[in-house]
Amino acid sequence: MENLLVLGGTGLLGRWVVRLATERGFVVRASGREELDLLRSDLEFGAFDAAINCAAYTAVDRAESEPEVAFRLNAGLPAQLAWAAAGRPVLHVSTDYVFNGESTRPYQPSDPVDPLGVYGRTKRDGELCLEGVGTIVRTSWLFGPERPCFPRAVLQRALSGQAVRVVDDQWGTPTHVADLARVLLDLLAISPGPGTFHAAGPEVVSWHQFATQLFREHNLQRGTALPDPEPIPTSAWPTPAPRPAFSALDSSDLWGMGIEAIPPLAEQISRYIRALD
Ligand SMILES: NC(=O)c1ccc[n+]([C@@H]2O[C@H](COP(=O)([O-])OP(=O)(O)OC[C@H]3O[C@@H](n4cnc5c(N)ncnc54)[C@H](OP(=O)(O)O)[C@@H]3O)[C@@H](O)[C@H]2O)c1
Repeated sequence: MENLLVLGGTGLLGRWVVRLATERGFVVRASGREELDLLRSDLEFGAFDAAINCAAYTAVDRAESEPEVAFRLNAGLPAQLAWAAAGRPVLHVSTDYVFNGESTRPYQPSDPVDPLGVYGRTKRDGELCLEGVGTIVRTSWLFGPERPCFPRAVLQRALSGQAVRVVDDQWGTPTHVADLARVLLDLLAISPGPGTFHAAGPEVVSWHQFATQLFREHNLQRGTALPDPEPIPTSAWPTPAPRPAFSALDSSDLWGMGIEAIPPLAEQISRYIRALD
């Protein structure tokens, strides 16, 4: 049985990777922060046959004021993993925020990168550390039922009776973490070797369209009467970190390799709402 090391196994994505890998018969090792602080510069990864790195500094706005910590986790950790890999398969998860958002069509893996903020720059640095060694899988707009994420934030606000304003001029490809975890394990099974892939949901939507679909599905499944959120421009929601206006990812390379595509957003949202407490 294969020993799989999962870094960040308590995260939004990582916990699904741990769950699915265990179901598929891997012996999974996923140490928590208490046993293994991934900020250390002398990490010992122990024995493993393959590794998936889901750990990251993901606080996009806080990264602007903590660039060194973000760099240590998003680039220092991949650098140490690259060193430890010694020819073993390593999958590393990266982000749509390596792009500047000026594209008018979903980004291909080979498109030029130009990150706008500290988070995107440190994630790009992490990609460079693993280039030629690991398989880099960029994804976008992750959501899942068990950790804070955009759907949870907007639904909590709406359910508490507060007005919800959501930007309608940033576009991306929302991706349910259970679907991405399945794609990562399918990819590991075909041992693709070093390279960069995109793995994201099939629909390009704005944050406002995403929230609207969430609220309407919640109303259908749960009998609520949440009103549609109010659309606002990014200029009305200033944040410390700049964000790409368009960061949709084109994942067709992966589907062309025989990996089953991530299902439509409506299906992902329906599953997400069903799993809420
Ligand atoms: N979330 C998104 O919308 C999104 C979009 C595109 C790409 N991505 C990428 O997808 C990957 C997974 O993201 P995610 O949303 O699942 O992240 P997440 O929920 O923030 O999880 C990050 C993981 O890293 C761990 N971690 C952070 N600092 C650590 C430290 N010092 N020592 C040990 N563990 C540490 C966390 O542990 P704790 O549980 O202890 O905090 C957690 O397990 C990342 O590479 C991210 O860049 C995410």
